[in-house]
Amino acid sequence: MGHIQLKQVKKSFGDVTVIPPLDLEINDGEFVVFVGPSGCGKSTLLRLIAGLEDTTAGNIEIDGKDATGLPPAKRGLAMVFQSYALYPHMSVRKNIAFPMKMAGMPKEEQDKRIAAAAKALNLTDYLDRRPGQLSGGQRQRVAIGRAIVREPAAFLFDEPLSNLDAALRVGMRMEISELHTKLATTMIYVTHDQVEAMTMADKIVVLQAGVIEQVGSPLELYRAPRNKFVAGFIGSPKMNLIEGAEAAKHNAHTIGIRPEHIDVSTTEGLWQGTVGVAEHLGSDTFMHIHGVPGCDPLTVRAGGEVGVKHGDTVWLTPNLTHLHKFDAQGLRIE
Ligand SMILES: Nc1ncnc2c1ncn2[C@@H]1O[C@H](COP(=O)(O)OP(=O)(O)O)[C@@H](O)[C@H]1O
Ligand SMILES: [Mg+2]
Repeated sequence: MGHIQLKQVKKSFGDVTVIPPLDLEINDGEFVVFVGPSGCGKSTLLRLIAGLEDTTAGNIEIDGKDATGLPPAKRGLAMVFQSYALYPHMSVRKNIAFPMKMAGMPKEEQDKRIAAAAKALNLTDYLDRRPGQLSGGQRQRVAIGRAIVREPAAFLFDEPLSNLDAALRVGMRMEISELHTKLATTMIYVTHDQVEAMTMADKIVVLQAGVIEQVGSPLELYRAPRNKFVAGFIGSPKMNLIEGAEAAKHNAHTIGIRPEHIDVSTTEGLWQGTVGVAEHLGSDTFMHIHGVPGCDPLTVRAGGEVGVKHGDTVWLTPNLTHLHKFDAQGLRIE
């Protein structure tokens, strides 16, 4: 079981409150991602759940029991950090066995759990190697293996892929998602990378300055961001936010339109602009358009083979079914 409930949980360091009181429910078996810019309190929130930080106020319940005052080892959770913290002189097998050995678990049970974890993580052939003889991704898997054998109620990951190069990150992202499917155990995953959040999460918790801006599935956040912050944070390239007269026509302070929801034409359209930088990705072209009132530059996603170049005049037409409207406070209208 891994049902975690935060009730009015607050954290201050001295006079500085980094997390004002917040409520959050994490259901058993859910993959929850905490995402937000650097310094917004993601690690602090995770460390509060793990018991590595004391709460200033509020309660944390794990599987219906108050865990607020419990030390980390008594919470039944396993944390996986960005730095793998493996013992370099020990084999993979011994690294994975370490927490079980410390707990005095019978050798037979240890071996059973090591075999199962190694199988789940494709490490069976590497059990006799030392961490120095493994790639970054394999080392990260060993660190996860050491968490799996504890059979925790939930896994807590703090930016576990930040040390890996881009290609490995994509691979590990899928491995962790697959692992979640296999184990069906609650996972809480912290990242500043909205692509990781979108691709891995059942439920995303968007944080800014210690405040939960929105909780929802990836597509809920994409389709209906509650405010301008979430609108700009979720989705890549970012949603265009347009102010002024164009927004007023829609009875809004700001209108938002994603780059993929704008049509480009060289002959006709609603807004006229000039192509600035055009980024050719092969599959897509991201064009940064200047001269559209209220938003400069405005980003448009077009096909990979689109024939426009720097300096060309283009016409843009937003798809109004995908228009987002925000009031003067930046809150979604509707
Ligand atoms: N031990 C600490 N003492 C004082 N301030 C801290 C401490 N740990 C974190 N903070 C502050 O709390 C805020 C949130 O930090 P953190 O949770 O690490 O953010 P994130 O993980 O989202 O980058 C930051 O402003 C940080 O400086
Ligand atoms: Mg952090």
